[in-house]
Amino acid sequence: MIPHERMIQKKTNAQLFDLSGRVAVITGAAGQLGPEYADCLSEAGADVVISDIAASKNRSEEITSDIKKKYGTNPKSITMDLFEKESIEQAAKEILDSYGKVDILINNAAYNPITKETQAAFENYNLDAWKKILDVDLTGVFLTCQVFGKIMLEQQYGVITNIGSVYGMVGADQRIYGESGLNSAAAYAAAKGGVINLTRYLAAYWQGKNIRVNSISPGGVYNPGVQNEEFLNNYMYKTMLGRMAAPSDLRGAMLFLCSDASDFVTGSNLVVDAGWTSW
Ligand SMILES: NC(=O)c1ccc[n+]([C@@H]2O[C@H](COP(=O)([O-])OP(=O)(O)OC[C@H]3O[C@@H](n4cnc5c(N)ncnc54)[C@H](O)[C@@H]3O)[C@@H](O)[C@H]2O)c1
Repeated sequence: MIPHERMIQKKTNAQLFDLSGRVAVITGAAGQLGPEYADCLSEAGADVVISDIAASKNRSEEITSDIKKKYGTNPKSITMDLFEKESIEQAAKEILDSYGKVDILINNAAYNPITKETQAAFENYNLDAWKKILDVDLTGVFLTCQVFGKIMLEQQYGVITNIGSVYGMVGADQRIYGESGLNSAAAYAAAKGGVINLTRYLAAYWQGKNIRVNSISPGGVYNPGVQNEEFLNNYMYKTMLGRMAAPSDLRGAMLFLCSDASDFVTGSNLVVDAGWTSW
């Protein structure tokens, strides 16, 4: 029996992590973590597409221009609103017109506002607020996977990395929030749990099609000025490493899952949480 070429191929670390010439689309790229992912993949050589809603257009353009200056790659900013399938289809068309392909899709966007409505007790939680979060955080991932998955099927190649959360894996411990006003909503937990299992579903669904689908589940990321001291202390106590994440803590996981270094990995959920979910 002749071994499959990939099973006998040898690659160096540099080759495994090299993304030169790959096109990577990042949704919700103008928020806290998107720019870190864009920087990480650009450093590895990828041409990144910074996509976000129209209201974030200026910030998206700023990130794109910074990356171009820093790495000399060919990034692009684009408006893509996950509430609307047409917006995703239009963005996909523009991306194909510019690059002719999409190698990597990172489903990073999230709608998780901290408002009186989203901080309401579960028993009184507003149905529209619930639906809005599910629409972007879960249905949005379904839609981008549908639109970009079709492109990847035609190309016979693709890598999708979805962003889950520890709150898609375990219940939010209500004791840590105190008066912080940062309580995590049930809709967010339901959406992120859905994203993690949609990831497994799609990895299985596209088996044999050369499309890998994985998720990363980050723990809480430090956001200066947003989290108060009581919350920070409570949160850090619950991690094994005694701290929240810095955005750069997620670079390794992202580069691994988007590159050939994870060529044998699909359907997995890579947990980056300082041990939060392990005790
Ligand atoms: N920050 C954390 O502590 C943390 C922890 C675990 C998981 N995550 C996940 O990581 C990802 C990024 O988090 P972040 O902290 O950068 O969030 P963020 O809120 O800073 O950024 C999210 C981005 O999504 C965009 N967005 C919102 N609605 C959209 C829509 N309809 N269409 C397209 N884009 C839309 C926003 O404009 C924003 O730029 C999210 O999926 C989040 O759930 C974050």
